[in-house]
Amino acid sequence: MNAECVSIEGLSVSYLSSTGRIEALRDISFKVYDGELITIVGPSGCGKTTLLNAIAGLLNFRNDVLISGKIFVKNAKSIGYVFQRDALLPWRTVIENVALGLEVRNFLKKKRKEIALDLLKMIGLEDYGNKYPHELSVGMRQRVALARAIAYDPELILMDEPLGSLDAQTRMTLQDEILAIHKKTRKTMLMVTHDIAEAIILGDRILVMSGRPGTVKSEYIVKLPKPRSAFSSRLDPEFSRLYGLILDDLK
Ligand SMILES: Nc1ncnc2c1ncn2[C@@H]1O[C@H](COP(=O)(O)OP(=O)(O)OP(=O)(O)O)[C@@H](O)[C@H]1O
Ligand SMILES: [Mg+2]
Repeated sequence: MNAECVSIEGLSVSYLSSTGRIEALRDISFKVYDGELITIVGPSGCGKTTLLNAIAGLLNFRNDVLISGKIFVKNAKSIGYVFQRDALLPWRTVIENVALGLEVRNFLKKKRKEIALDLLKMIGLEDYGNKYPHELSVGMRQRVALARAIAYDPELILMDEPLGSLDAQTRMTLQDEILAIHKKTRKTMLMVTHDIAEAIILGDRILVMSGRPGTVKSEYIVKLPKPRSAFSSRLDPEFSRLYGLILDDLK
């Protein structure tokens, strides 16, 4: 068994507002091991983004958030995050966006460019380095956001519905890309999606959350053989078996 990359024990989170207290997460516990790709599905508003934000440390020190329980992240300084709404900086070119985390970490200019160009090649956007985000399609922007999150080689990558706003075709292409990136880099990944099929195709393990307050309702190990593909893995009986179980959980 690989080492623990993330360990959550009894995590509860509430938001305080002028109208009262909203309990977002209740008593969440799970572990993520090095190199695993975990997918998380759950109904809208069940606290998926809250969970990723808690792991990324973004809820600490906020005076409108009550947080209890234990969150351990092996290397908390080394987290890449693809936010739910794509957060590319509009005034920076594609290559400058990809290199953002490298800049913050004081990589030399030449090195930044080299790494960013390599990643753009990997995602098939090497000709778009000097374009601005508004000149790209939504799918291209998602690719850039993904490249930016892995650019400085973080140990853990959090992705919040990274393919949320894409059409079915583009979505499947990017699912294959995520599978390829995971295979190549062996990064630990935690990905939120509202798409059951996507959770099964990509996940080594799936966490299904209940409605608010979010709890971990069930957990499935995905026994689909690897390498997987967004198209052909759907034809496997294991796919339909899991689909049925998760659909039932979410009812
Ligand atoms: N800053 C905030 N202040 C008050 N309540 C909040 C805040 N952020 C989130 N919430 C509430 O906490 C709950 C969980 O929100 P969260 O965004 O984590 O859900 P989610 O599962 O990511 O939803 P979606 O699938 O729609 O993205 C929701 O009921 C939401 O209204
Ligand atoms: Mg969300």
